Amino acid sequence: MEIQGKTALVTGGATRIGRAIALSLARDGMHLLLHYRRSLREARQTQKEAERLGVKVDLLQADLRHFSEVKRLARESFVRARQIHLLVTSAAVFYKTPLGKIREKEWDEFFDVNLKAPFFLSEALGLRMFRQKEGKIIHLVDWTALRPRAAYLPYCASKAALVAVTQGLAQALAPYVQVNAIAPGPILPAAGSTRRENEKVLKRTPLKRFGEPGDIAEAVRFLVKSSDFVTGAVLPVDGGNLIA
Ligand SMILES: NC(=O)c1ccc[n+]([C@@H]2O[C@H](COP(=O)([O-])OP(=O)(O)OC[C@H]3O[C@@H](n4cnc5c(N)ncnc54)[C@H](OP(=O)(O)O)[C@@H]3O)[C@@H](O)[C@H]2O)c1
Repeated sequence: MEIQGKTALVTGGATRIGRAIALSLARDGMHLLLHYRRSLREARQTQKEAERLGVKVDLLQADLRHFSEVKRLARESFVRARQIHLLVTSAAVFYKTPLGKIREKEWDEFFDVNLKAPFFLSEALGLRMFRQKEGKIIHLVDWTALRPRAAYLPYCASKAALVAVTQGLAQALAPYVQVNAIAPGPILPAAGSTRRENEKVLKRTPLKRFGEPGDIAEAVRFLVKSSDFVTGAVLPVDGGNLIA
């Protein structure tokens, strides 16, 4: 898809992987609707950097645990940009939930932020993209969506369900909208992770290193810019974890 001058909504776009994706899209000339929840300062910084690249950037705040805010985010996006050609859902929650200690509130948070929000944003934006006969949706999942890990079951289950959503939406929105998922491996350690945990991650990763946010941005770039014939796919960018 030609993306220069078109608009993308990136959720969780203020920091870390979302920020790298947003800035990469800006370098390719995409205007941004940059969603954040708490990271206003970082969102403004990302906005400033993207604007220096010559694109327009609107900041949109929403707490995606709340359905009313998901709907508001979709509505406000269409107020700011008449047409949106790309949705990237990067916002997510991730933390350890050992069996026997999982609270219902935590379960709901994983499913509200990691699954329900991406689904309803995709529905709202995807149907418009279908009507405009062009668009792309990319969900960030995780290699552990395909190989769940015992200490992170609600997280893995929410991402596994997002893979199902990706595949179903790819069917529903064909032939005009391509819907894909990227399954990162270890890119940036989670806040609060210990050195020992990170060493364990490296040990099990065939490529023996963490990836970089730019690796994910590059995968997004490939799916958005380079190929219009990939849909319903899950692209692992995981240092080989899926084959370990
Ligand atoms: N980091 C990795 O190595 C890795 C590995 C595998 C998969 N992934 C996936 O890749 C994506 C990006 O990873 P990341 O590490 O950059 O993510 P992250 O830093 O853990 O989270 C990204 C953003 O999600 C937003 N967020 C969290 N709860 C929210 C809520 N209730 N409402 C709205 N936004 C909320 C936060 O926005 P604010 O800061 O503005 O509050 C945060 O900046 C995620 O989907 C993650 O699951 C990452």
